[in-house]
Amino acid sequence: MMFLQILFTLSFLFSSSNALDFCVADLNAPQGPVGYSCKKAEAVTVEDFVFSGLRAAGNTSNLKKSVLRPAASNQLPGVNGLGISAVRLDFAVGGRTAMHTHPEATEVVVVIQGTLVGGFISSANKVYLKSLKEGDVMVFPQGLMHFQINIGESQALAFGCLSSASPSVYFMDYAWFANDLPTHILQETTFLDPDQIKKLKGVLGGTG
Ligand SMILES: *[C@@H]1O[C@H](CO)[C@@H](O)[C@H](O)[C@H]1NC(C)=O
Repeated sequence: MMFLQILFTLSFLFSSSNALDFCVADLNAPQGPVGYSCKKAEAVTVEDFVFSGLRAAGNTSNLKKSVLRPAASNQLPGVNGLGISAVRLDFAVGGRTAMHTHPEATEVVVVIQGTLVGGFISSANKVYLKSLKEGDVMVFPQGLMHFQINIGESQALAFGCLSSASPSVYFMDYAWFANDLPTHILQETTFLDPDQIKKLKGVLGGTG
C-alpha cells in the first residue's frame, strides 16, 4: 500500500507539467511586491520573451541629454519572476544620467559606443570613478547612488542588465527638487541654501 502510494506520488511528480519554467507577467493583473501573477501557460508565446523596442536610439532632447529605456516586466513580460531585466542608455554629447539608485537591483553596464565616466558612491562615502571605453563593463552595486557621463565628442550608447524584473529608478535631484517638499525642510535636511533650493525646484518642476 505504502509502496503504491510512493509510486503514485513519483509518477505524478514526473509526469505533471506543473514545473514553473517561467511566470510571464499577466499585465492585466495588479503588480505586487514580487511582481505580476502569471499569465496562463496556454496564452504564452515567444513574443512574451522578446522586446524589440530598444533597436533605435531614444530621444535625448531633455535636461539630462540622455535617456534610459527599460526592457523590464512591463515591456518584456517574460522576465517577470526571474530577477533580471535590461536597459538601453543613450547619451547625446554632454549627456549624463543624473545621480540615482536602483534600490532593489545591481546593474551591470556595457559600453557599446563612445566614452563614459561611470561612478558610484558606497555607503561608506567612498567614490568609485572610472572612464569607460567601448567594450568596458562596470558594475553598480545594488542600492548605491551612481551615474554615467558622456565625456566623448560624439553620442554614446550603453546597455545594462539589472538584477530585478521591475527595477525602480530613484533620481536624487528629482526626489529633492521635483516635488512640493517645503524649501525650509530641504534647507534643514540638506544644508543647501534656500536660493539654490528654489533655483533647482524651478529647473526640475518642484514647488514650495
Ligand atoms: C524629442 O523630444 C523633444 C522634447 O520632448 C521633442 O520636442 C522632439 O519632437 C522629440 N523628437 C523626436 C524625434 O521625437
